[in-house]
Amino acid sequence: MQQAIQEWATAVGTFIDAYCKLLDQAEETSNAEIEAERRVFRDLLLGIERDVRPETPTGLPVCRFADAVLQEAPSETSLQTDLNESCRQVIANARWVNKYEPNAEHADLFENFAFCDFVGPDSSQVSHDVTLGFVLLGPDTSYPFHEHPARELYYVASGKAGWATDFEDFTLREPGTFLLHLESQPHAMRTYGEPLLAVSAWRGEVRGGSRFSQKVPRQNVNLKHHI
Ligand SMILES: [Fe+2]
Repeated sequence: MQQAIQEWATAVGTFIDAYCKLLDQAEETSNAEIEAERRVFRDLLLGIERDVRPETPTGLPVCRFADAVLQEAPSETSLQTDLNESCRQVIANARWVNKYEPNAEHADLFENFAFCDFVGPDSSQVSHDVTLGFVLLGPDTSYPFHEHPARELYYVASGKAGWATDFEDFTLREPGTFLLHLESQPHAMRTYGEPLLAVSAWRGEVRGGSRFSQKVPRQNVNLKHHI
């Protein structure tokens, strides 16, 4: 038991370190706002007082795609391979949850979606300033427009999927891409033939929940598949 706790603490610590290194050293983009956020999130994560509490691993149906999505993760650089290996350790022992109840409108979201936050106010590694976790979507799944009061930085770890915000229609994003969602900004994702694994981090109002957006942007009402 003690060994399992120690292994989990090591896995979380190793992932935080690998992700901070990625935030620090991954190739810069032309988006100054995202580059600034990378530094802010890195500093918040590095500032956490490390104290990982035991976690109860919980799998969900979508976890059947975990191996496949990790196998497809890009591994050209040591930053990527370190991140992938630390992803693997956390994914296998995380408490995966799905905050959305099954319903007819979003049946795929219940079967093919889950997230885990292992850093956050109520997470295994407590932080009141920042959250860190994974979002996993199976293939051909729509995660409809939703919003939350926290600012969010995503990193696409594996899987080419469509991402949209209130002012940008669905656009295919490659693994290795960072995406920023501002406070209460509606955003959505949809997968096509492959699963998606993304690293999600919040800052600001990290206790505020996520909810489906009431006003779906006009340009995104009638979507066509890009693949
Ligand atoms: Fe979000």
